Amino acid sequence: MILSVEDLRELAKRRIPRAIFDYADGGAYEERTMRRNSADLDALSFRQRVMVDVSNISLATSFVGAAASMPLGIAPTGLAGLFHADGEILGARAAAACGIPFCLSTMSICSIEDVRAATQQPFWFQQYLMKDRGFNQELIDRAAAAQCSALMLTLDLQVIGERRRDPRNGLTIPPRLTLRNAVDVASRPTWALRVLFGKRRTFGNLVGRIGGTSGIRTLAEWTNTQFDASANWRDVEWVRSRWPGKLILKGVLDAEDARLGVAAGADAIVVSNHGGRQLDGAPSTISVLQEIVDAVGGRCEVLFDGGIRSGQDIAKALALGARGALIGKSFLFALAAAGEAGVRKAIEIMRNELRVTLALTGTANVGAVGPHILRRP
Ligand SMILES: Cc1cc2nc3c(=O)[nH]c(=O)nc-3n(C[C@H](O)[C@H](O)[C@H](O)COP(=O)(O)O)c2cc1C
Repeated sequence: MILSVEDLRELAKRRIPRAIFDYADGGAYEERTMRRNSADLDALSFRQRVMVDVSNISLATSFVGAAASMPLGIAPTGLAGLFHADGEILGARAAAACGIPFCLSTMSICSIEDVRAATQQPFWFQQYLMKDRGFNQELIDRAAAAQCSALMLTLDLQVIGERRRDPRNGLTIPPRLTLRNAVDVASRPTWALRVLFGKRRTFGNLVGRIGGTSGIRTLAEWTNTQFDASANWRDVEWVRSRWPGKLILKGVLDAEDARLGVAAGADAIVVSNHGGRQLDGAPSTISVLQEIVDAVGGRCEVLFDGGIRSGQDIAKALALGARGALIGKSFLFALAAAGEAGVRKAIEIMRNELRVTLALTGTANVGAVGPHILRRP
């Protein structure tokens, strides 16, 4: 019985090999920040309010220039196509069917063009600053040609935080059948047939497009060779000057950086610590959200991610000032569990949880959510 995102996570664990599951489930180093994201959300309590007319709850909203059926979007996740064949296409379709935005990662398995060809709804495209700025320009042009509705620039991955589960599990890209993982893979024949021996198994946007990458097998190697560790705010302004549409800056965890992001021309920022996959020891995203919202002072939208597993979590992020929340792991577990239907299920579960949370906090619509729905510590 699938009643929660946690149920989808348990199912995912059974359906995909350990190395792929752990790639999503883990964080950087000792995973302290990853755990804090969830623990700090859990620690917040709602004020239960009664005898308020909540017979007509509305979750509809808009963010980053488009209407959405609820304040939720799918965060960019690299390698989603290894969780389920055509994972990015299925994710984009599920998001469109549920009326929420989907963001495609540069490090996806399906390319921008694959997703564009298979979907009707415009999607967001996420990129990093690469050493080869010509390649950034190429990605911008491809995103524009695919009519992407927003460009998301991720700022918190100039160097990669070590995710220790990956080398321990021998995760490679494309995934390979080895003596070590043979039993694990053999006990998941559906995944093996569709993904391991499927059509798309490596970085769809990158392979054959950037030089000097043959022989690269791990995500850390890709990052270390291609991403620009010297990037600074002038480079963000450069991207701004090249992309006429909505620009979202992702990976802001400090009020000062939020102000610099606004100055660089962001339409929205995402308060994010990459799901605890980068700086271990950084604060949870929920603990810094309010001060960042204050620093931005309404000059751009503030989105939120990190630890969102339920509609209750979304309500807490909204209460502290986020315009919308994004899901990374919850999306990938749902995708691995049941493809497009799984992702729709996760979104519908969260939608119902959010609706009930609003009702029981005496709130008729998402626009009316504020800090008053939380109890003060
Ligand atoms: C497996 C995985 C891959 C990710 N890949 C990317 C990526 O390619 N680009 C990016 O900006 N963020 C990436 N992220 C971070 C997510 O966009 C998001 O910030 C994070 O997952 C939010 O936390 P949550 O997983 O607790 O929801 C990834 C996260 C996961 C779990």
